Amino acid sequence: MGQETTTRSATGIPGLDPLIQGGLQSGDFVLLVGDLGTGKTIFSSEFIYNSAKRLGEAAVFATFEEDVASLKRNMLRFGMDFDTLEKEKKVKIIDLEALQGRGMGSNIETLLGALDSLRARRLVVDSLTAFLSSAQEKFDYSFLMHLVYKTLKREGVTTLMTVSRPAIPLGEVGVEEFVADGIFELQNYISRDVELKTRFIIRKLRGTDHSRRFHSVVFTPNGIEILPYTP
Ligand SMILES: Nc1ncnc2c1ncn2[C@@H]1O[C@H](COP(=O)(O)OP(=O)(O)O)[C@@H](O)[C@H]1O
Ligand SMILES: [Mg+2]
Repeated sequence: MGQETTTRSATGIPGLDPLIQGGLQSGDFVLLVGDLGTGKTIFSSEFIYNSAKRLGEAAVFATFEEDVASLKRNMLRFGMDFDTLEKEKKVKIIDLEALQGRGMGSNIETLLGALDSLRARRLVVDSLTAFLSSAQEKFDYSFLMHLVYKTLKREGVTTLMTVSRPAIPLGEVGVEEFVADGIFELQNYISRDVELKTRFIIRKLRGTDHSRRFHSVVFTPNGIEILPYTP
């Protein structure tokens, strides 16, 4: 293993950082893929909350799936107080749904404006699926490529975008998977004792010696936690 040349910052999600050499590299662009109810929004919220609260690094959460009020209410149940962090200008939550119909270019401008105003170090888009489908123009990935390579990577903003869909069969990838530095996947499954459980696997993370195993995901009063796998 060669020497580390880039800075890593802990996601702060319990159980995750030891699986990825301590954290994500600054400027990483990671997709969090998973079916409905696998914990994508909770995972994303923890990623933003930990940045602002524990590392003191401002972060932007662009929501497309839930309105801001219900997102805040749901996350407060896990002890994540986004209202306070917003007042302290450490977090900004953007409701992209409410801005729908304005076109992809202007949504990206809103995102970049928010990142700029907070000097944010992290960005979440929940979900990329909804973000792309909101585009009136035919989407050809040039917007996404431009956003990621010309801006976010250059500024060193670490980005997590969720993708709502069932588990990816091995060998089956979409265009966004080629663009991404990392692909994290959450899967719901029925356990041996006939219970709906959730598991996590890292399918890819460039430049990182990462875990290749399934890990169990549990929902606790503080959000989600990643634990050794129990089938
Ligand atoms: N207060 C809670 N306590 C425990 N588990 C919860 C709580 N709230 C939600 N969950 C679990 O989290 C799941 C939803 O997580 P969410 O991040 O919204 O999923 P996704 O964004 O992938 O659709 C629910 O289906 C439920 O299993
Ligand atoms: Mg969600």
